[in-house]
Amino acid sequence: MSRYHEVYAAWKKDPEAFWGEAAREIDWINIWDRVFDPYAGEYGRWFTGAECNTAYNCLDRHVLRGRGQQKALIYDSPVTNTTKSFTYAELTHEVATLGGVLQDLGIKKGDRVIIYMPMVPEAAIAMLACARIGAIHSVVFGGFAASELATRLNDCTPAAILTASCGIEGTRVIPYKPLLDKAIELATHKVGTCVILQRPQVDAAMISGRDHDWADLVRDAKARGRKAGCVNVAATDPLYILYTSGTTGQPKGVIRDNGGHMVALKWTMRNHYGIEPGETFWAASDVGWVVGHSYIVYAPLLHGATTVLYEGKPVGTPDPGAFWRVIAEHKVSAMFTAPTAFRAIKKEDPTGAHIKRFDLRLFRTLFLAGERADPETIKWAEKHLGVPVIDHWWQTETGWAIAGNPVGLGTLPVKYGSPTVPMPGFELHVLDEKGVQVPAGQPGTLAVKLPLPPSSLPTLWGANDRFRKSYLADFKGYYTTSDAGYIDADGYVYVMARTDDVINVAGHRLSTGQMEEVVAKHKDVGESAVLGVADDLKGQIPIGLIVLNSGVNRDAQEIEAEVIKLVRDEIGPVAAFKQVITVKRLPKTRSGKILRGTLRAISDGEAWKMPATIDDPTVLDEITEALKARGMALNAKPPTG
Ligand code: COA
Ligand code: AMP
Repeated sequence: MSRYHEVYAAWKKDPEAFWGEAAREIDWINIWDRVFDPYAGEYGRWFTGAECNTAYNCLDRHVLRGRGQQKALIYDSPVTNTTKSFTYAELTHEVATLGGVLQDLGIKKGDRVIIYMPMVPEAAIAMLACARIGAIHSVVFGGFAASELATRLNDCTPAAILTASCGIEGTRVIPYKPLLDKAIELATHKVGTCVILQRPQVDAAMISGRDHDWADLVRDAKARGRKAGCVNVAATDPLYILYTSGTTGQPKGVIRDNGGHMVALKWTMRNHYGIEPGETFWAASDVGWVVGHSYIVYAPLLHGATTVLYEGKPVGTPDPGAFWRVIAEHKVSAMFTAPTAFRAIKKEDPTGAHIKRFDLRLFRTLFLAGERADPETIKWAEKHLGVPVIDHWWQTETGWAIAGNPVGLGTLPVKYGSPTVPMPGFELHVLDEKGVQVPAGQPGTLAVKLPLPPSSLPTLWGANDRFRKSYLADFKGYYTTSDAGYIDADGYVYVMARTDDVINVAGHRLSTGQMEEVVAKHKDVGESAVLGVADDLKGQIPIGLIVLNSGVNRDAQEIEAEVIKLVRDEIGPVAAFKQVITVKRLPKTRSGKILRGTLRAISDGEAWKMPATIDDPTVLDEITEALKARGMALNAKPPTG
């Protein structure tokens, strides 16, 4: 029997008592005045008046309580043939030393530090070192281009940037330093301090006075015995800023606080993931994404578990058995990844032959999130791994699952296609356009009744108005998730699609609006629409439809290639923007709005209805022909209704 219903009811009855009790798992410097202050911040703040330090709770306290010799972090890198582990004592030492280095470079509490790093242990050490000294880190995913990095530099105005000479993508080495230099050149906010980790694969050229060699600084600090102590911060002080895609080219700087974040994440480790301190938990993501922040770095360490930081891919490093090797070798109890990784494995190893090569007896649960887990993928994983496969739904904004299946409280029956039920903390409703709750089974917008629980964003960095407009303005008293879906009669949640122009490509959140802004910069493009169309491997991929300016008579294919390059150069390879199709016109409503939903249905080969408001229906035939000519929309059904 699952205790879920009982625990959810206890939370609902008295949220403050529930989170106050959960907070006893954290070591505080000063206890809170109020568990929740409804008058503070945009919708209230958690643990006001409390003081704490996140790095202390992740590291020092475990050493003090006897976990010093337990592995805290295992770095597994098939791309460099390296495995290295750090005990809690060793990781504490590394973090305290780097904290000292940063302080010696002038970084103070409240300063921002950008971390633009590949999946090496130093990335986690850098995050924790910032937490230790009260600096606010902002990790930027390595697959973003220089101009994306520049946008973030301008927005959070960091005092320093920490980076490495290169990342390694499968067999390709990607130098980071040219991207960094270009970003600093593009940004109006000029950063005077960069710390560069030189990796053996690439020796980055250093700029004298600005760039410092990471290893030299750490060696020197160790020789001097220099270590930073844990700086007291308010529970409500920001721990980090993580930028995520919104509807425009300007990413949203999601703020995570220190206190609420620790309380919620610590609670999830046992209750949601069913993990005990001392066990090994592996999130196969990247520290550049929220999953990496929460479940590679913070939650497992807050819990005294062992975490795995994996620099590799599900396939090709070297084969589709890579995940099973890591699980077996490091005795992983539970793993967390995106369904797309499993689709990639399934494609190369449909019979699961590689799974049989390894002893996975200690492996208990597979968790999936980041995009809708399609039932086929779940069933394949269940069949071949023989463990429960748990889908859960969350967002950068929350930092942990809004809905999930709480293994630690007793697993609820799985319904394929549903991430199961709302977690304590989230009172989830389905609303119609007017903000009225719809009956069970009816679709609408998934919205969380305020207040949001601990760990959720209190606001956006430097953008309170945007926070209110983006999340609180649509439905009074609610946070809108911008996900559409429904809740069935048993209370199971179904997440179907975004209500905004965010798409999900290989578990990566991207904005089609942002891509359109970049496409529009091409001198020959008059109009464009970027759509997320269904893809067997990545879930969705973007395609661009462009209309050329009148009078342009250059080869369309040449222009299409330039547009693709433009998006790659401005947003980065992670956009996976590889298809552009030139069309004569775009379908619009009589008021001039591009009919993106209809376009997407046509390109996905779904049945679609002729929109009543369309200005000229013949445009859709032209588009269908253009898509067919590229091998798309072949299954397009004739308009119905
Ligand atoms: N640094 C530089 N470039 C990067 C990068 C990084 N950290 N991460 C990805 N890229 C590049 C890729 O090399 C690829 O470049 P290409 O167009 O030159 O081939 C491009 O960005 C797109 O990357 P991706 O969409 O990840 O495609 P892929 O073909 O490289 O890999 C998967 C596909 C499914 C194997 C991979 O996305 C994956 O493992 N995903 C699951 C885990 C995950 O990332 N989850 C995220 C949230 S939980
Ligand atoms: P991110 O902020 O990058 O974590 O992306 C969050 C978005 O990914 C959500 O708003 C959803 O659209 C999608 N998403 C994440 N997890 C799931 C899931 N389990 N099922 C369906 N969609 C999901």
